[in-house]
Amino acid sequence: MNKRRVFVTRIVPEGGLALIRAACDADVWAEELPPVRPVLLEKVRGIDGLLCLLTDPIDAEVMDAAGPGLRVISNHAVGYDNVDVAAATARGIPVGNTPGILTETTADFAFALLMAAARRVAEGADYVRAGKWRTWGPMILLGYDVHGSTLGLVGMGRIGQAMARRAAGFGMKVIYYDPYFDGAREGVAGAEAMDSLDALLAEADFISLHVPLTGDTHHLIDARALAKCKPAAVLINTSRGPVVDTDALYDALAAGQIAYAALDVTDPEPLPAGHRLVALPNCLVVPHIASASWATRTRMSVMAAQNLLAGVRGERLPNCVNPQVYY
Ligand code: GLV
Repeated sequence: MNKRRVFVTRIVPEGGLALIRAACDADVWAEELPPVRPVLLEKVRGIDGLLCLLTDPIDAEVMDAAGPGLRVISNHAVGYDNVDVAAATARGIPVGNTPGILTETTADFAFALLMAAARRVAEGADYVRAGKWRTWGPMILLGYDVHGSTLGLVGMGRIGQAMARRAAGFGMKVIYYDPYFDGAREGVAGAEAMDSLDALLAEADFISLHVPLTGDTHHLIDARALAKCKPAAVLINTSRGPVVDTDALYDALAAGQIAYAALDVTDPEPLPAGHRLVALPNCLVVPHIASASWATRTRMSVMAAQNLLAGVRGERLPNCVNPQVYY
């Protein structure tokens, strides 16, 4: 039997790629940047399976360009807001993602951003590089203590809970807001549920976002929300850029309405080097790398490959976000 044809929109770690190449006739996009739209539409024509990244918008047009043979869309990420899941479901196409395996790595990084923001690590490095370090100074680069402070988690899914575990080790008070999480049933030791986002924003010293991007969470952190925060508040975003209103965040940081933001994700993404947010000394921007450890990216590639291979074989995906396609 002929091997199934798949398109892989970027080079992913070898762990996953080797599985795909062994089992399929794989066309792997080897450029640094994602295939532009017309190329993507051309590349998917007649394929059985698609392995895509969060940088690839996969909508009805892409699915229809692929044609009726498309049996699986495997997203190499836990978030899948780049895929029109309703359009896939309507066509009976299962969509895979990579949950669970990047939880701890992502929480490590969100906590690293929290620490770096609190203690001005990036500014300290810039200070040394700029030749400004002339003496030990009692007033140089004073920041905020992490221990004894309050961490506000917006979203108490897997990554939010992993943040709560880390915060406990640092002697932080943990509060959270998540209307979909039943803390009493699921039990998160020592974390206190807030009745509203506003209540969390008013109390937290550090606000860390751990929600998926949906219609409800788009611009969840807008000018109104930022006005509720303490002036010394630090905002950490490792979720999706559009959860925060970029212009409102710029205004709040520039006006000192909040103290600092540390962003792994931005809107737009990538954020151009000349963007006014990048120039702010109280904003740390890094290039969407929260899950970027060798081990985790390898595990993600394997899980994405397993979803892809199961899909092209007509088997149930090990991690499927729209299991309705099987009913
Ligand atoms: C990364 O942002 C992911 O969703 O896996």
